[in-house]
Amino acid sequence: MRIRAAVLEEFGTPLAVQDVELAEPKAGEALVRLVACGVCHADLYTASGADPSGYAPAVLGHEGAGVVERVGEGVSSVAPGDHVVTLFSPQCRECAHCRDERTNLCLAIREQQNQGFLPDGTTRFARNGEPIRHFMGTSTFAEYTVMPEIALAKISPEAPLDRACLFACGLSTGLGAAMNTAQVRPGSTCVVFGAGMVGLGAVAGCRLQGAERIVCVDLSEERLGLARGQGATETIVGGPDSVERILELTDGFGADYTFEATGNVAVMRQAVEAARMGWGLATVCGVAGKGETLDVVPRYLITGRRVAGSSFGGVKGRDGVPRLVDRWLAGEIDVDPFVSHTLTLDEVNRGFELMEAQDGIRSVITFS
Ligand SMILES: NC(=O)c1ccc[n+]([C@@H]2O[C@H](COP(=O)([O-])OP(=O)(O)OC[C@H]3O[C@@H](n4cnc5c(N)ncnc54)[C@H](O)[C@@H]3O)[C@@H](O)[C@H]2O)c1
Ligand SMILES: [Zn+2]
Ligand SMILES: [Zn+2]
Repeated sequence: MRIRAAVLEEFGTPLAVQDVELAEPKAGEALVRLVACGVCHADLYTASGADPSGYAPAVLGHEGAGVVERVGEGVSSVAPGDHVVTLFSPQCRECAHCRDERTNLCLAIREQQNQGFLPDGTTRFARNGEPIRHFMGTSTFAEYTVMPEIALAKISPEAPLDRACLFACGLSTGLGAAMNTAQVRPGSTCVVFGAGMVGLGAVAGCRLQGAERIVCVDLSEERLGLARGQGATETIVGGPDSVERILELTDGFGADYTFEATGNVAVMRQAVEAARMGWGLATVCGVAGKGETLDVVPRYLITGRRVAGSSFGGVKGRDGVPRLVDRWLAGEIDVDPFVSHTLTLDEVNRGFELMEAQDGIRSVITFS
């Protein structure tokens, strides 16, 4: 079929929205009609050429939600008409990692996915017979996409898809960092650095876990206001003195749990230093630039602080995303404030501009 998609032709140039060919789903795959898709940092990181593992041409986009239209041979977990959230982090339920509760990093299709292919090593996108590669196994800046069934989370049909798409990346990442990676205990003191999509999700996750105090640190007063709306009990305008300020607020000890959601390695260090001696856990969610390293004085670790990294919030997508969506539908998570702009696919590059200008939390592309 012919569909419209936003193609990365060349690094550092705007995406080109155009007609491409999409082949039918093969065994284990499904054809998904996208209804909505958020614009996230990883899309821009690749489009800009900053990501050393990027490739082109490719159809970008990974924060998608839509409806299954057709399925390939042997597909049993989704059927036409199902509402789904796309998973850049799949869940095969069979590999060593999927069978272990300690991680969500499924091993099943990593190599092919990282190179822009579906699990059989080919693409479903093409233009004049030339293949166009997939991105993060999702390619959701498109009217339709083909994805492996293990990378689709079937969600409640009640969930409005123009907000459900945020669970495909940023929101689940933040919620999961608090709920799965850190497993925040009730009554705890938490600090969240960054009040973008990921940090605000972490604030909400700490609240759902029953944290008593949630301190949010950001540079923007407007975003700190949103953090209060998600359950932050205190807010701080961030800077070089963030750690000092947090120690003052916590009788000199620091927080039980800290979360970094900025992508800035200096802030990651602050997250470690603001964690409490004895048991403080710093969870790193941000993606640092190429070659950057995290600088930690080992004494912080000897005295009982720990550092954890969190990819997609440790959420095993097919099991975990539908549960998070249900909690939203039950009124436990307020998702509406995260959708700042609604765009058409043709305006996808505007979504990148808004993100660079830090204008709003998320721009969401909707497909008519
Ligand atoms: N681990 C994952 O699976 C995963 C998934 C999605 C995004 N990410 C990464 O998470 C990070 C956050 O994503 P986002 O969409 O929320 O980004 P965002 O740009 O919307 O938010 C980042 C926030 O950090 C704040 N900030 C910057 N410097 C600060 C400082 N010194 N102190 C306090 N706050 C500061 C900014 O004001 C901004 O509000 C990015 O690095 C992104 O690439 C990781
Ligand atoms: Zn993302
Ligand atoms: Zn697996």
